Amino acid sequence: MAKNKITVVGAGNVGATTAHIAATKGLGDIVLIDIVEGLAAGKALDIAQASPIQLSSPGITGTCDWRQTADSDIVIITSGFPRKPGMSRDDLLAKNVEIVKSVSEQTAKHSPHSIVIVVCNPLDAMVHTAAKVTGFDPNKVMGMAGALDSARFSYFLACEFGVGADEIKCVLMGGHGDDMVPLPRFTCVGGIPVTELLSPDKIAEIIERTRKGGIEIVNLLGYSAYYAPAAGAVKMAEAILKDKKTLISCCAYCDAEYDAASHFVGVPAILGENGVEKVIKLALNDSERDAFAESLDHVKQLAVKVDKLL
Ligand code: LAC
Repeated sequence: MAKNKITVVGAGNVGATTAHIAATKGLGDIVLIDIVEGLAAGKALDIAQASPIQLSSPGITGTCDWRQTADSDIVIITSGFPRKPGMSRDDLLAKNVEIVKSVSEQTAKHSPHSIVIVVCNPLDAMVHTAAKVTGFDPNKVMGMAGALDSARFSYFLACEFGVGADEIKCVLMGGHGDDMVPLPRFTCVGGIPVTELLSPDKIAEIIERTRKGGIEIVNLLGYSAYYAPAAGAVKMAEAILKDKKTLISCCAYCDAEYDAASHFVGVPAILGENGVEKVIKLALNDSERDAFAESLDHVKQLAVKVDKLL
């Protein structure tokens, strides 16, 4: 069987870490690409040289040349400007639309049958950009944000309960912004909904920290997070490449679900070899529906801005 081919676009913190985790897991041959001469080649060589120690396959190359990415199964787009203190993700829109547009054109040209996972911000708007520019089947274009936001929610809950992080299964919807919608009713510790175990105040406190999880790290580091975002992107790539049918929150195309027709927004979805194979429809209560509607409205406004820029 031919090995999977994964292109990671952008050799900055998120891209290089994504390539490193994917290489360590032996997910396939990896091409790391960046416009900065030597950056992707240098990081790829460094990752390859770790392979004898980490017992992973050294199938990684770094390049500036899109031809080397040809016929990738998955293209993970991490390129774009990251946030600095004082910035919202939306402040990146104009600059990152240009970058994602150009990367999407190259993706469509060199890997027309690939599945695209977008990681750069503002996330939902960048997924919209990639889908529009590639013209790919919308189920083959998705965004990594729910995996990250869920991981943060799960981590904070695991700390609260003193359990292993893999005991928590959580669902989170909406755009990747401060108005994201963590759903405690659908979030369980060892199968028990957290609403049965924690007070509403405690849950609200953990949700607030989850919503601000990105900026908490920006304020500490001076730039944005990359270990957990990269881990989220690799989790999605693995679900697709191994056809795992993983149920995960991600930015996916909605047909009619959640009144989000024709929009890309965070929803629980099943990922497998065909990309987003199913969006799961939950019966939201009034307050959950209102919170999602507000977040969706924000996502829609940014999509309109993208359409004007393209
Ligand atoms: C974050 C950025 C990557 O949430 O969006 O950390």
